[in-house]
Amino acid sequence: MTTSEKVHGQWSSRLAFIIAASGSAIGLGNIWKFPYLVGENGGGAFVLVYLACVAIIGLPLMMAETLLGRRGRQSPINTMAKLARAAGSHPAWRFVGWIGVLAGFLILSYYSVIAGWSMAYLFKVGGGFLEVGSAEATQRAFIDLKSAPDVQMVWHSLFMAATILIVSRGVSKGIEKVTRIMMPGLLLMLIILDVYAAGTSGFSEGMSFLFKPDFAKLSAESLLIAMGQAFFSLGLGMGSIMVYGSYLPDHVSIARSSLIVAGLDTAVALLAGIAIFPVVFSNNLQPGMGPGLIFETLPLAFMHMPGGALFGTIFFVLVFFAAITSAIALIEPAVAWLSENKGFDRVTASIYAGAGCWLLGVGTVLSFNVWAEKSFFGKTFFDAIDFLTADILLPVGGILVAIFAGWIMKRSESAEELELGGLYPYWLLLTRFVAPAAVAIILLHGLGLF
Ligand code: PHE
Repeated sequence: MTTSEKVHGQWSSRLAFIIAASGSAIGLGNIWKFPYLVGENGGGAFVLVYLACVAIIGLPLMMAETLLGRRGRQSPINTMAKLARAAGSHPAWRFVGWIGVLAGFLILSYYSVIAGWSMAYLFKVGGGFLEVGSAEATQRAFIDLKSAPDVQMVWHSLFMAATILIVSRGVSKGIEKVTRIMMPGLLLMLIILDVYAAGTSGFSEGMSFLFKPDFAKLSAESLLIAMGQAFFSLGLGMGSIMVYGSYLPDHVSIARSSLIVAGLDTAVALLAGIAIFPVVFSNNLQPGMGPGLIFETLPLAFMHMPGGALFGTIFFVLVFFAAITSAIALIEPAVAWLSENKGFDRVTASIYAGAGCWLLGVGTVLSFNVWAEKSFFGKTFFDAIDFLTADILLPVGGILVAIFAGWIMKRSESAEELELGGLYPYWLLLTRFVAPAAVAIILLHGLGLF
């Protein structure tokens, strides 16, 4: 019996699954990454392509990945091997699980650094140390943080330590309980920020930047980035959702749960965009300023609100929680593999995986200062890891999941798992043809190979 079989429990209800899956999906990807990518890639057209990717590629793939997990009921590597055996196909399908372990590991290495920034801001805003007198002051504060490797190392280490601590104890009831309160809290905070943004002078400019498409601003690479962001934000293509699906009771509708998770994830990203861009334009800031966007703009919004220091503190606490629930999903495939196949206990496995991520994360810390000019395939270390994972590994993992669920698995099995009724042929069409073809074309085109 493998460890995963021993530890296999099941979610107590559909709600438990939705909360865990949303916890994995909703994270820095929605609040930090989506707005800055929209800013860098010209606004509305990018948003439109992103939404299309979520609907046409992300949603059917989320259903596919969940159904593979529920059918296999093991960790991704072993699930893929088991299902391939059952379908009379090659055991090399376990490679899909490997991509997931690698991608999760690489993503977490920088995720922890950025989560560390949000912890630094929590501390600064809460303690009243942040200078927020003007746009220049918030920009300067962010540059100070970015150029201090030692300060970032402290927060990066703390975040990774927190992740290791939680993961080593097993995904506990505690996390489920905390997420249940934190996620609605996050939604509420974003709505408060949106209401503030609606009253600023840059509101209409911000809204048209976000929602008025100008396709001239869209390059082949921004198409790839939009698609990669859909994978990243939904947490697809790397086995997290597969693991979560493996704990899903049989009677729960995969289609309906996926729709809810993808819908919530998208709503949070859009709400974050609506909160941020009006503030950008009201303060004559540049939307394309990159990864610092939320850190340079949101403190300005909080500054103008009554009780802003309190709201700002609450907001960054919530961002921290959104990040940690995603970090758990990112490291889980590596931890599961180390404990299943290498015989480590969970604590040791978590420490090894976390320490490896931590070490790699040092490269990201340095990429904002000491290594800022160093080029890795024409990008900074951080950008290179981000590109390799979100824009290459996750889409490749996604294509393989689609091919397996659409072509290798028996139709009777996927139909039975999904219970889509009359909608099943549409899912099959998207999973067999549309999603893999779209991902392949965007991938090759974005890499300049086609
Ligand atoms: N979806 C998470 C976010 O948006 C990141 C993540 C990616 C989590 C892949 C799990 C798997 O922040």
